[in-house]
Amino acid sequence: MTRGKLITIEGVEGAGKTTNLPYIQQQLEAHKLRILHTREPGGTEVGEAIREILIAPALPAMHQDTELLLMFAARAEHLKKKIEPALSSGKWVLCDRFTDASYAYQGAGRGISLERIAQLEGWVQGALRPDYTLLFDVDAHTGLGRALSRGEADRFEQEDIDFFNRVRQQYLTMADNNPQRYRVIDASAGLAEVQQQLRHIIAGMFA
Ligand SMILES: Nc1ncnc2c1ncn2[C@@H]1O[C@H](COP(=O)(O)OP(=O)(O)OP(=O)(O)O)[C@@H](O)[C@H]1O
Ligand SMILES: [Mg+2]
Repeated sequence: MTRGKLITIEGVEGAGKTTNLPYIQQQLEAHKLRILHTREPGGTEVGEAIREILIAPALPAMHQDTELLLMFAARAEHLKKKIEPALSSGKWVLCDRFTDASYAYQGAGRGISLERIAQLEGWVQGALRPDYTLLFDVDAHTGLGRALSRGEADRFEQEDIDFFNRVRQQYLTMADNNPQRYRVIDASAGLAEVQQQLRHIIAGMFA
């Protein structure tokens, strides 16, 4: 059985990740692939319970290390229970946020050193890295405006604009540093144009 590939979807709040996930899945299925779609933090029963703790607006601010460790705790569960078995069975896994979100939010956003995050990445993931990362890039102001139009702000969405500017910048830096893995989408465009970019990118994976 050929091992499947891991595709992660990243970008700031409101960039359009979740909106476009079904479209990406459909484009991949057109290539006769079996797809598992999932999300972080979450993706498993335990992981979704951890997600509730992480995003609940009602909880007091937690220490940044606590937040980082909860992210990786949920990720460990996700990898062992869901992602690894799917990849081994030949499925392609489409994941709405993954470890690069920890570098962007807990690293650039909160100020935890990237080296520390890299230690946890090695510990929890071993050598596993995404095969492709689709970065939905949009300025923080536009993204946050879209996200807040969905309704009540979660714990992250209550951060100030500088936080999201740092998050976006970190994603762009990772894209620059990993050009073979990253595909950057101009997510400020309308949905039809975003999907045209996605079609082109996905076609390029099979060219
Ligand atoms: N290209 C677009 N143009 C205009 N509005 C968009 C576009 N893409 C998504 N939206 C809208 O913006 C809002 C946020 O989109 P979505 O939930 O997909 O963002 P997200 O990247 O998943 O955010 P989060 O990180 O908070 O989960 C939704 O109401 C969606 O309909
Ligand atoms: Mg989303």
